[in-house]
Amino acid sequence: MSYYEKVKNIKPKTDAVILGIESSCDDTCCAIVRGGNTILANEIISSAAEHAKYGGVVPEIASRMHTDAISKVVQNALKTAKMSFDDIDAVAVTYGAGLLGALLVGLSYAKALAMSLNIPLIAVSHIRGHISASYLGNDPPNAPFVSMLSSGGHTAVIYIPKDGEFQIMGQTLDDAIGEAFDKVARTLKLGYPGGPEIERAAKGGENSVVLPKMLKGNNGFDLSYSGLKTAVINYVHNREQTGKEIDVSNVAFSFQKNAVDALIERAIRAAKQCNVKEIACGGGVAANTYLRESISEKCRENNFKLHLPEKKLCTDNAAMICAEGYFKYMKGDYADLLLNAESSL
Ligand code: KG4
Ligand code: ZN
Repeated sequence: MSYYEKVKNIKPKTDAVILGIESSCDDTCCAIVRGGNTILANEIISSAAEHAKYGGVVPEIASRMHTDAISKVVQNALKTAKMSFDDIDAVAVTYGAGLLGALLVGLSYAKALAMSLNIPLIAVSHIRGHISASYLGNDPPNAPFVSMLSSGGHTAVIYIPKDGEFQIMGQTLDDAIGEAFDKVARTLKLGYPGGPEIERAAKGGENSVVLPKMLKGNNGFDLSYSGLKTAVINYVHNREQTGKEIDVSNVAFSFQKNAVDALIERAIRAAKQCNVKEIACGGGVAANTYLRESISEKCRENNFKLHLPEKKLCTDNAAMICAEGYFKYMKGDYADLLLNAESSL
Protein backbone atom coordinates (compact mmCIF):
# COMPACT_ATOMS: atom_id res chain seq x y z
CA MET A 1 0.00 0.00 0.00
CA SER A 2 1.31 3.47 -0.84
CA TYR A 3 1.84 6.22 1.73
CA TYR A 4 -1.27 8.02 0.48
CA GLU A 5 -3.49 4.96 0.78
CA LYS A 6 -2.32 4.38 4.34
CA VAL A 7 -2.66 8.00 5.43
CA LYS A 8 -6.04 8.80 3.85
CA ASN A 9 -7.72 6.27 6.16
CA ILE A 10 -6.26 7.78 9.32
CA LYS A 11 -9.09 9.41 11.30
CA PRO A 12 -8.15 12.46 13.40
CA LYS A 13 -8.27 11.97 17.17
CA THR A 14 -8.69 14.82 19.65
CA ASP A 15 -5.73 13.86 21.85
CA ALA A 16 -3.33 13.43 18.91
CA VAL A 17 0.38 13.99 19.51
CA ILE A 18 1.71 16.34 16.84
CA LEU A 19 5.41 16.86 16.18
CA GLY A 20 5.99 20.32 14.73
CA ILE A 21 8.96 21.63 12.78
CA GLU A 22 9.77 25.29 12.14
CA SER A 23 12.79 26.53 10.17
CA SER A 24 11.62 29.69 8.38
CA CYS A 25 14.31 32.05 9.64
CA ASP A 26 17.26 31.68 12.03
CA ASP A 27 15.79 29.27 14.62
CA THR A 28 15.63 25.50 14.09
CA CYS A 29 12.63 24.44 16.18
CA CYS A 30 10.89 21.20 17.06
CA ALA A 31 7.96 20.79 19.44
CA ILE A 32 5.68 17.99 20.52
CA VAL A 33 2.15 19.00 21.51
CA ARG A 34 -0.76 16.83 22.63
CA GLY A 35 -4.38 17.70 21.78
CA GLY A 36 -3.42 21.02 20.18
CA ASN A 37 -2.55 22.75 23.47
CA THR A 38 -0.47 20.65 25.89
CA ILE A 39 3.23 21.28 25.24
CA LEU A 40 5.33 18.16 25.89
CA ALA A 41 8.50 19.62 24.35
CA ASN A 42 9.42 22.92 22.72
CA GLU A 43 13.06 22.92 21.62
CA ILE A 44 15.03 25.56 19.73
CA ILE A 45 18.55 25.65 18.32
CA SER A 46 19.21 29.25 17.32
CA SER A 47 21.78 30.52 14.84
CA ALA A 48 21.10 34.17 15.80
CA ALA A 49 24.58 34.64 17.32
CA GLU A 50 26.16 33.70 13.97
CA HIS A 51 23.97 36.21 12.08
CA ALA A 52 24.66 38.92 14.66
CA LYS A 53 28.24 39.12 13.31
CA TYR A 54 26.75 40.40 10.02
CA GLY A 55 24.05 42.62 11.56
CA GLY A 56 21.17 40.55 10.15
CA VAL A 57 20.12 37.10 8.93
CA VAL A 58 22.34 35.71 6.14
CA PRO A 59 20.07 33.25 4.26
CA GLU A 60 22.88 30.93 3.15
CA ILE A 61 24.21 30.61 6.71
CA ALA A 62 20.67 30.02 8.01
CA SER A 63 20.14 27.10 5.58
CA ARG A 64 23.45 25.48 6.49
CA MET A 65 22.85 25.84 10.20
CA HIS A 66 19.33 24.37 9.92
CA THR A 67 20.87 21.38 8.14
CA ASP A 68 23.30 20.91 11.03
CA ALA A 69 20.64 21.36 13.71
CA ILE A 70 17.48 19.67 12.42
CA SER A 71 18.11 16.06 13.52
CA LYS A 72 19.51 17.23 16.84
CA VAL A 73 16.56 19.48 17.69
CA VAL A 74 14.09 16.67 16.88
CA GLN A 75 16.05 14.26 19.11
CA ASN A 76 16.08 16.88 21.88
CA ALA A 77 12.29 17.23 21.61
CA LEU A 78 11.70 13.45 21.76
CA LYS A 79 13.99 13.23 24.78
CA THR A 80 12.23 16.08 26.61
CA ALA A 81 8.80 14.57 25.86
CA LYS A 82 10.13 11.10 26.85
CA MET A 83 8.78 9.75 23.58
CA SER A 84 9.89 7.88 20.49
CA PHE A 85 8.83 8.40 16.87
CA ASP A 86 6.20 5.67 17.38
CA ASP A 87 4.27 7.99 19.72
CA ILE A 88 3.77 10.67 17.06
CA ASP A 89 0.40 10.87 15.25
CA ALA A 90 1.18 13.62 12.71
CA VAL A 91 3.95 15.96 11.56
CA ALA A 92 3.18 19.67 11.18
CA VAL A 93 5.66 21.86 9.33
CA THR A 94 6.05 25.49 8.34
CA TYR A 95 6.01 25.70 4.53
CA GLY A 96 6.01 29.54 4.34
CA ALA A 97 6.47 32.42 4.67
CA GLY A 98 10.20 32.68 5.21
CA LEU A 99 13.61 32.17 3.66
CA LEU A 100 13.27 29.60 0.90
CA GLY A 101 16.47 27.64 1.61
CA ALA A 102 15.74 27.65 5.33
CA LEU A 103 12.13 26.46 4.87
CA LEU A 104 13.24 23.64 2.57
CA VAL A 105 15.42 22.08 5.28
CA GLY A 106 12.50 21.69 7.72
CA LEU A 107 10.07 20.76 4.98
CA SER A 108 12.27 18.00 3.54
CA TYR A 109 12.88 16.58 7.00
CA ALA A 110 9.15 16.66 7.84
CA LYS A 111 8.17 14.94 4.58
CA ALA A 112 10.72 12.18 5.10
CA LEU A 113 9.55 11.69 8.68
CA ALA A 114 5.84 11.57 7.78
CA MET A 115 6.55 9.15 4.95
CA SER A 116 8.73 6.82 6.99
CA LEU A 117 6.19 6.73 9.86
CA ASN A 118 3.15 6.60 7.54
CA ILE A 119 1.46 9.47 9.37
CA PRO A 120 -0.19 12.66 8.04
CA LEU A 121 1.88 15.68 7.03
CA ILE A 122 0.26 19.03 7.89
CA ALA A 123 1.26 22.19 6.00
CA VAL A 124 1.32 25.22 8.32
CA SER A 125 1.59 28.92 7.53
CA HIS A 126 4.13 30.56 9.84
CA ILE A 127 1.97 33.59 10.33
CA ARG A 128 -1.11 31.56 11.24
CA GLY A 129 1.15 29.73 13.65
CA HIS A 130 1.93 33.00 15.46
CA ILE A 131 -1.80 33.70 15.76
CA SER A 132 -2.49 30.18 17.08
CA ALA A 133 0.22 30.43 19.77
CA SER A 134 -2.50 31.85 22.03
CA TYR A 135 -4.28 28.45 21.99
CA LEU A 136 -1.37 26.77 23.79
CA GLY A 137 -1.91 26.10 27.49
CA ASN A 138 -5.13 25.60 29.39
CA ASP A 139 -6.82 28.98 28.85
CA PRO A 140 -7.30 29.30 25.07
CA PRO A 141 -9.19 32.27 23.60
CA ASN A 142 -12.88 31.87 22.87
CA ALA A 143 -13.84 32.90 19.34
CA PRO A 144 -14.92 35.38 18.19
CA PHE A 145 -11.92 37.45 19.27
CA VAL A 146 -9.37 39.90 17.86
CA SER A 147 -5.73 38.94 17.37
CA MET A 148 -2.92 41.50 17.40
CA LEU A 149 -0.06 40.16 15.35
CA SER A 150 3.38 41.80 15.51
CA SER A 151 6.39 39.98 14.08
CA GLY A 152 9.47 40.67 11.98
CA GLY A 153 7.58 40.00 8.76
CA HIS A 154 3.96 40.89 9.55
CA THR A 155 1.89 43.37 11.49
CA ALA A 156 -1.88 43.06 11.50
CA VAL A 157 -5.11 43.32 13.43
CA ILE A 158 -7.15 40.21 12.69
CA TYR A 159 -10.72 39.20 13.45
CA ILE A 160 -11.11 35.51 14.33
CA PRO A 161 -14.79 34.60 13.84
CA LYS A 162 -14.19 30.87 14.53
CA ASP A 163 -11.19 28.78 15.59
CA GLY A 164 -8.89 28.40 12.57
CA GLU A 165 -10.55 31.21 10.53
CA PHE A 166 -9.02 34.65 9.97
CA GLN A 167 -10.16 38.00 8.57
CA ILE A 168 -7.57 40.78 8.33
CA MET A 169 -9.04 44.10 9.51
CA GLY A 170 -5.88 46.13 9.04
CA GLN A 171 -2.21 45.58 8.38
CA THR A 172 1.00 47.42 7.70
CA LEU A 173 1.16 48.98 4.27
CA ASP A 174 4.97 48.84 4.23
CA ASP A 175 7.46 47.67 6.91
CA ALA A 176 6.51 45.22 9.65
CA ILE A 177 6.86 46.51 13.20
CA GLY A 178 9.72 44.09 14.02
CA GLU A 179 11.53 45.14 10.86
CA ALA A 180 11.28 48.78 12.01
CA PHE A 181 12.67 47.81 15.45
CA ASP A 182 15.59 46.04 13.75
CA LYS A 183 16.35 48.97 11.40
CA VAL A 184 16.15 51.61 14.12
CA ALA A 185 18.44 49.45 16.29
CA ARG A 186 20.96 49.30 13.46
CA THR A 187 20.83 53.10 13.04
CA LEU A 188 21.48 53.47 16.78
CA LYS A 189 24.41 51.02 16.42
CA LEU A 190 22.75 48.51 18.71
CA GLY A 191 23.07 44.77 18.07
CA TYR A 192 20.95 42.21 16.20
CA PRO A 193 18.16 41.20 16.67
CA GLY A 194 17.19 44.81 17.20
CA GLY A 195 13.91 44.41 19.08
CA PRO A 196 15.36 43.20 22.39
CA GLU A 197 18.22 45.72 22.03
CA ILE A 198 15.77 48.62 21.63
CA GLU A 199 13.84 47.33 24.64
CA ARG A 200 17.06 47.28 26.71
CA ALA A 201 18.18 50.71 25.50
CA ALA A 202 14.74 52.22 26.17
CA LYS A 203 14.92 51.40 29.88
CA GLY A 204 15.12 54.66 31.79
CA GLY A 205 14.46 56.66 28.63
CA GLU A 206 11.63 59.12 28.06
CA ASN A 207 9.30 60.11 25.25
CA SER A 208 11.24 63.26 24.36
CA VAL A 209 11.88 62.82 20.62
CA VAL A 210 8.95 64.18 18.62
CA LEU A 211 7.97 61.66 15.92
CA PRO A 212 5.17 61.84 13.32
CA LYS A 213 1.83 60.39 14.35
CA MET A 214 0.85 57.40 12.26
CA LEU A 215 -2.07 57.96 9.89
CA LYS A 216 -4.92 55.48 10.06
CA GLY A 217 -4.99 54.52 6.35
CA ASN A 218 -8.17 54.10 4.31
CA ASN A 219 -9.96 51.62 6.55
CA GLY A 220 -8.82 53.08 9.86
CA PHE A 221 -7.00 49.91 10.92
CA ASP A 222 -4.01 49.85 8.57
CA LEU A 223 -0.56 50.86 9.77
CA SER A 224 2.64 52.26 8.26
CA TYR A 225 6.01 51.80 9.90
CA SER A 226 8.17 53.13 7.09
CA GLY A 227 7.45 56.79 7.93
CA LEU A 228 8.14 56.31 11.63
CA LYS A 229 11.36 54.41 10.93
CA THR A 230 12.57 57.06 8.45
CA ALA A 231 11.76 59.85 10.90
CA VAL A 232 13.98 58.20 13.55
CA ILE A 233 16.78 57.58 11.04
CA ASN A 234 16.60 61.23 9.83
CA TYR A 235 16.63 62.48 13.42
CA VAL A 236 19.75 60.45 14.24
CA HIS A 237 21.60 61.39 11.03
CA ASN A 238 20.69 65.05 11.46
CA ARG A 239 22.12 65.14 14.97
CA GLU A 240 25.24 63.29 13.84
CA GLN A 241 25.83 65.75 11.00
CA THR A 242 25.36 68.80 13.22
CA GLY A 243 27.58 67.31 15.93
CA LYS A 244 24.74 67.14 18.47
CA GLU A 245 24.65 64.45 21.15
CA ILE A 246 22.21 61.56 20.69
CA ASP A 247 20.45 60.21 23.75
CA VAL A 248 20.08 56.59 22.58
CA SER A 249 17.82 55.76 25.50
CA ASN A 250 15.33 58.54 24.71
CA VAL A 251 15.34 57.76 20.97
CA ALA A 252 14.74 54.06 21.67
CA PHE A 253 11.96 54.84 24.16
CA SER A 254 10.22 57.35 21.87
CA PHE A 255 10.35 54.99 18.89
CA GLN A 256 9.17 51.98 20.93
CA LYS A 257 6.26 53.93 22.38
CA ASN A 258 5.11 55.35 19.04
CA ALA A 259 5.42 51.99 17.24
CA VAL A 260 3.61 49.97 19.89
CA ASP A 261 0.93 52.53 20.84
CA ALA A 262 -0.29 52.78 17.23
CA LEU A 263 -0.80 49.02 17.00
CA ILE A 264 -2.50 48.70 20.38
CA GLU A 265 -4.83 51.60 19.60
CA ARG A 266 -6.00 49.78 16.46
CA ALA A 267 -6.43 46.44 18.22
CA ILE A 268 -8.58 47.97 20.96
CA ARG A 269 -10.69 49.89 18.44
CA ALA A 270 -11.09 46.73 16.30
CA ALA A 271 -12.22 44.71 19.33
CA LYS A 272 -14.79 47.37 20.20
CA GLN A 273 -16.06 47.56 16.62
CA CYS A 274 -16.36 43.75 16.37
CA ASN A 275 -18.04 43.62 19.75
CA VAL A 276 -15.76 40.83 20.99
CA LYS A 277 -14.73 40.23 24.59
CA GLU A 278 -11.22 38.89 24.09
CA ILE A 279 -7.92 39.97 22.51
CA ALA A 280 -4.96 37.67 21.81
CA CYS A 281 -1.39 38.60 20.89
CA GLY A 282 1.29 36.86 18.87
CA GLY A 283 4.61 37.41 17.07
CA GLY A 284 8.13 38.28 18.22
CA VAL A 285 7.39 41.90 19.12
CA ALA A 286 4.71 40.67 21.57
CA ALA A 287 7.71 39.60 23.70
CA ASN A 288 8.38 43.33 24.26
CA THR A 289 7.80 44.35 27.88
CA TYR A 290 6.44 47.80 27.02
CA LEU A 291 3.94 46.21 24.61
CA ARG A 292 2.95 43.59 27.19
CA GLU A 293 2.40 46.16 29.94
CA SER A 294 0.52 48.59 27.68
CA ILE A 295 -1.85 46.03 26.16
CA SER A 296 -2.52 44.57 29.63
CA GLU A 297 -3.43 48.03 30.93
CA LYS A 298 -5.63 48.88 27.94
CA CYS A 299 -7.45 45.53 28.16
CA ARG A 300 -8.07 46.09 31.87
CA GLU A 301 -9.43 49.60 31.23
CA ASN A 302 -11.73 48.36 28.46
CA ASN A 303 -12.77 45.06 30.03
CA PHE A 304 -11.25 42.77 27.40
CA LYS A 305 -9.86 39.44 28.46
CA LEU A 306 -6.25 39.32 27.26
CA HIS A 307 -4.40 36.26 25.96
CA LEU A 308 -0.70 37.04 26.01
CA PRO A 309 1.43 33.94 25.32
CA GLU A 310 4.63 33.66 27.35
CA LYS A 311 7.59 35.34 25.65
CA LYS A 312 9.07 32.09 24.33
CA LEU A 313 5.79 31.37 22.54
CA CYS A 314 5.67 34.84 20.93
CA THR A 315 9.04 34.58 19.16
CA ASP A 316 9.59 31.79 16.62
CA ASN A 317 8.92 28.30 17.98
CA ALA A 318 7.42 25.02 16.78
CA ALA A 319 4.75 24.65 19.49
CA MET A 320 2.72 27.30 17.68
CA ILE A 321 3.10 25.27 14.47
CA CYS A 322 1.60 22.27 16.29
CA ALA A 323 -1.25 24.45 17.63
CA GLU A 324 -2.15 25.70 14.16
CA GLY A 325 -1.48 22.30 12.59
CA TYR A 326 -3.97 20.74 15.00
CA PHE A 327 -6.88 22.66 13.43
CA LYS A 328 -5.98 21.33 9.97
CA TYR A 329 -5.31 17.82 11.32
CA MET A 330 -8.76 17.68 12.97
CA LYS A 331 -10.34 18.56 9.61
CA GLY A 332 -8.36 15.78 7.93
CA ASP A 333 -6.61 18.43 5.85
CA TYR A 334 -3.43 16.46 5.14
CA ALA A 335 -0.70 17.72 2.79
CA ASP A 336 0.68 16.14 -0.33
CA LEU A 337 4.31 15.00 -0.26
CA LEU A 338 4.83 17.28 -3.27
CA LEU A 339 4.24 20.25 -0.94
CA ASN A 340 6.72 23.00 -1.78
CA ALA A 341 8.09 25.87 0.30
CA GLU A 342 6.66 29.34 -0.38
CA SER A 343 8.76 32.32 0.60
CA SER A 344 5.77 34.68 0.69
CA LEU A 345 2.39 33.42 1.78
O1 KG4 B 1 7.97 36.39 15.22
P1 KG4 B 1 9.44 36.53 15.11
O2 KG4 B 1 10.31 35.78 16.08
O3 KG4 B 1 9.91 36.15 13.66
C1 KG4 B 1 9.17 36.53 12.53
O4 KG4 B 1 8.26 35.80 12.17
O5 KG4 B 1 9.46 37.62 12.00
O6 KG4 B 1 9.73 38.08 15.21
C2 KG4 B 1 11.02 38.57 15.10
C3 KG4 B 1 10.95 40.06 15.36
C4 KG4 B 1 12.30 40.73 15.14
O7 KG4 B 1 12.11 41.88 14.37
C5 KG4 B 1 12.74 41.06 16.56
O8 KG4 B 1 13.57 42.20 16.62
C6 KG4 B 1 11.41 41.28 17.24
O9 KG4 B 1 10.57 40.29 16.72
N1 KG4 B 1 11.50 41.14 18.69
C7 KG4 B 1 11.25 42.14 19.55
C8 KG4 B 1 11.53 41.63 20.84
N2 KG4 B 1 11.89 40.32 20.73
C9 KG4 B 1 11.86 40.04 19.39
N3 KG4 B 1 10.87 43.41 19.33
C10 KG4 B 1 10.73 44.21 20.40
N4 KG4 B 1 10.99 43.81 21.67
C11 KG4 B 1 11.37 42.54 21.94
N5 KG4 B 1 11.62 42.16 23.19
ZN1 ZN C 1 7.88 34.38 13.28
